[in-house]
Amino acid sequence: MCGIVGYIGERDAYPILIKGLKRLEYRGYDSAGVALMNGNLNVYKKKGKVNDLVDFIGTSNTKGNMGIGHTRWATHGIPDDLNAHPHLSGEERLVIIHNGIIENYAPIKEWLKTKGHTFKSETDTEVLIHLIEEIQKDGDLSIEEAVRLALTKVVGAYAIVVIDRLDPNKMVAARKSSPLVVGIGKDEFFIASDATPIVEYTNQVVYLDDNEIAVLTKNDGLKVINIENEVQRPLVHEIDMKIEAIEKGGYDYFMHKEIYEQPNTIADCMRGRLNVQEGWARLGGLSQYKNRICNADRIIIVACGTSWHSGLIAEYLFEDLARIPVEVEYASEFRYRNPIISEKDVVIAISQSGETADTLAALELAKKQGALTYGICNVVGSSIARVTDSGSYIHAGPEIGVASTKAFTGQVTLLSLMALTIAYERGTISTNRYQELISELGRIPKKVEETLKCDDQVKVVSEKMKDSSNALYLGRGYNFPVALEGALKLKEISYIHAEGYPAAEMKHGPIALIDENMPVVVVATNPSAHEKIVSNVQEVKARKGVVIAIVNEGDSVLKEIADLVIEIPLTLEPFTPLLSVIPMQLLSYHIAVMRGCNVDQPRNLAKSVTVE
Ligand code: G6P
Repeated sequence: MCGIVGYIGERDAYPILIKGLKRLEYRGYDSAGVALMNGNLNVYKKKGKVNDLVDFIGTSNTKGNMGIGHTRWATHGIPDDLNAHPHLSGEERLVIIHNGIIENYAPIKEWLKTKGHTFKSETDTEVLIHLIEEIQKDGDLSIEEAVRLALTKVVGAYAIVVIDRLDPNKMVAARKSSPLVVGIGKDEFFIASDATPIVEYTNQVVYLDDNEIAVLTKNDGLKVINIENEVQRPLVHEIDMKIEAIEKGGYDYFMHKEIYEQPNTIADCMRGRLNVQEGWARLGGLSQYKNRICNADRIIIVACGTSWHSGLIAEYLFEDLARIPVEVEYASEFRYRNPIISEKDVVIAISQSGETADTLAALELAKKQGALTYGICNVVGSSIARVTDSGSYIHAGPEIGVASTKAFTGQVTLLSLMALTIAYERGTISTNRYQELISELGRIPKKVEETLKCDDQVKVVSEKMKDSSNALYLGRGYNFPVALEGALKLKEISYIHAEGYPAAEMKHGPIALIDENMPVVVVATNPSAHEKIVSNVQEVKARKGVVIAIVNEGDSVLKEIADLVIEIPLTLEPFTPLLSVIPMQLLSYHIAVMRGCNVDQPRNLAKSVTVE
């Protein structure tokens, strides 16, 4: 949610900022802007994408060895040139970029107005920079002290970077609930919302913690204080991110590349955790708390979006294999409904970014009430990964397409490993079943590779579906969440209204919608529900619905009844989601391309939602 990038050093800042903004564009793309310091502060901002900003700047003066850049996902104020960041203070001495929300901006704005401040935009961010200016002027303070004091007065979430025209060798950054990473180079610093704009310059980074303020001074190192003005000792991490991982590598869209990366990312997720020869599954994150997790009264899973769908699959996995009761909660609902949580509960947060505000808040609530918290994240060093008692990374590499694909299969792989490990410890499955599942999980990367060969069949289906206004996705058991995920994928990138439903529940409502114009995508790959799902398909066909069935190879029954079929390899039931989701991802991808949509940057969405 909004991308932030900054540079201070000896190089030209502008190309670094623009490249960084392009890497961060997945976080928001309503408008973009930069501020460059070269004695003066040159600020350029424009509604639209980073490329629109570059066209707008053209040959204007972009000189400066220090600068900040921002790509916005609007919260306060419509996306336009005025509301775009950076925002200048009233006297144009200070400039700020901000990710997050200042909740008490209204009373602060009123107070500032009484002091003579006037505002150009509708944003909470402009209010914050005016507040910093007012405090600085009042006490004749350094920029870091003014930022610190101002932040003691605001309520909300922020990652900010501020430059003071009269202190030209310094950049001040602060975070609360929105991520910020400082990159440390030789006589230079980078700052960004995540490491992707930094990795090509340095692998030495510091993740700022909540309530920390970083002061980056040219030729004078990095100083970190907290909001109480206590000096902090920043921990320097070495990150291992390859530049190829954040580039498209010949694909038109990141989403397409990420779909095709799945045989490898799933294998990476299993590496060192699954040994088929020796017949075991193991998770480092579980070992420390094994007893507490295996003896939990309940597992509560909190997540949002696609990660919530992984959580639903985990409910099937944990209950089916490990026999522990599971509740899966939308993090945004859980945190506000006074939930009952005890010390015997384990709360698992699933989040690709590790930064989703609602998921983070739900976790904090669970922690306060004594539950053990476990994070399943992709982004290394992310907030959720850091606040949880324990956890596991899915190791999918950077996911840049807004629609989540490889993170979903990574999460489901990790949750499968977790369910198997717990089931073994608890003795809830037989040794034979355990060994059978271990061997099959080991075959999944290869089977995903085979599944990707359905791409041509999917293209045929996409042609048929691309002009529909609605679609229904049905599934049962382990594949009900896959139906939800398929519908979400179609909605978010193709703008076709789609609903996911448990196949049997269809007759209690959605069946009323079925006619010859309604494509119905049926996920029919779970062997135990095959006959039941055949009956559901018959119900759709009897009402002239167009059935697209995702079936196991050799399923002659559904081939006969369905209008179109997509065949995928057979696997054991608990792992069917890992294969059946692949045609869903490809279907939404091809339909979006056929409809001329921007696959990686769907309208109104952002990849990392760091506001409520
Ligand atoms: C946003 C993204 C989704 C993602 C959801 C949860 O809505 O567009 O793709 O599933 O946030 O994000 P998380 O990073 O917590 O998995």
